[in-house]
Amino acid sequence: MSKIRVAVIGVGGIGSTHLRAYAACSDQSEIVGLADIDILNAQKKAAEYGCQAFRNYEQMLEETCPQAVSICTPPNLHLPIIQNIAARNLSVLCEKPPARTVTETEDIVQAMADSKGILQFAFCHRFHKSVIQAREMITNGRLGKIVQVYNRFGFRFDRAGRSWFTDREVAGGGVLIDTLVHSVDIFRFILGEEISHVSASVSTSLQVQVEDSASILVTSTGGTAGSLNGSWVTPVSEAEFRIYGTEGEAIIDYAQSGGLRYRLANAPEWTQLPFDRPDRFVLQAEHFLNCVTDGQSSSVGGSEGIAVMKVIEAAYQSLQNAASIRL
Ligand SMILES: NC(=O)c1ccc[n+]([C@@H]2O[C@H](COP(=O)([O-])OP(=O)(O)OC[C@H]3O[C@@H](n4cnc5c(N)ncnc54)[C@H](O)[C@@H]3O)[C@@H](O)[C@H]2O)c1
Repeated sequence: MSKIRVAVIGVGGIGSTHLRAYAACSDQSEIVGLADIDILNAQKKAAEYGCQAFRNYEQMLEETCPQAVSICTPPNLHLPIIQNIAARNLSVLCEKPPARTVTETEDIVQAMADSKGILQFAFCHRFHKSVIQAREMITNGRLGKIVQVYNRFGFRFDRAGRSWFTDREVAGGGVLIDTLVHSVDIFRFILGEEISHVSASVSTSLQVQVEDSASILVTSTGGTAGSLNGSWVTPVSEAEFRIYGTEGEAIIDYAQSGGLRYRLANAPEWTQLPFDRPDRFVLQAEHFLNCVTDGQSSSVGGSEGIAVMKVIEAAYQSLQNAASIRL
């Protein structure tokens, strides 16, 4: 089987992770090129992964002829770059948030639908073992009816205040769009339901244009209440989901090396599930490459990105209206 020729556009923080993930899938893929306007960093990464570096991504696409491309630039560039790539019929793994707005996300999805390429949004937590274990446990009914979900992704993000992350024009917003996109996606994924209502509350402690802490209250179509919280300014890192059902509860704890932890009404001691193959980014790349190879749609395709962005946009709208938004 011939290898998929892959390239990465934007090789800063997460672009480096995509390169590492593709390198871990070297039986399926070959990294042929990368592009970044920071050419010194691009050259350093290219030397590390044995490929060509370019300042201009269009030149990179023309000269290295990839079949599949990771988009790891700031969000304002996702749409224009993907429109260019779609016109070349290449496949795309696009970082979160899909774009700055629902409209931009729909334009990405349309551009890719009009092309021969496959679109996957990089909601990497779909490939995190304990998230998958939680979804299975909920689907099997072992926790009973899920009544409440509590999530927090909190940490101190030192570069937030001095990077594009707090430039509304580039990022589309603050921690709500940047970090709670993951929370919204995980909530929908583990429950297998859409979100019907959302309201948001935010605060800002840095001298920036956007919110640096955000909380949203959501209700799923099946009636589960969710409290999803994120912050860039709290010193002790926390990353967890707590899921409460009528027959038991479970915790996805990213700080633990183990898998899902749960306890049930009839077995109240905590049980920890095993956690093999822990790297969600490698599993994400594997799924993308398999879809490209087989010409199949990704399980994290366009409709998933649009659904998540509708919740994020409604959350921002609720701030303006001071009301809960029905989706
Ligand atoms: N999945 C995750 O867990 C995760 C984690 C971090 C970031 N992200 C997302 O990934 C994207 C990038 O974030 P990051 O943290 O890597 O940011 P970053 O600033 O570290 O890297 C972005 C890179 O894009 C480059 N760039 C900017 N304009 C470009 C252009 N026109 N052509 C080529 N390169 C260009 C920059 O020079 C920089 O190296 C964002 O959408 C972000 O939300 C996802």
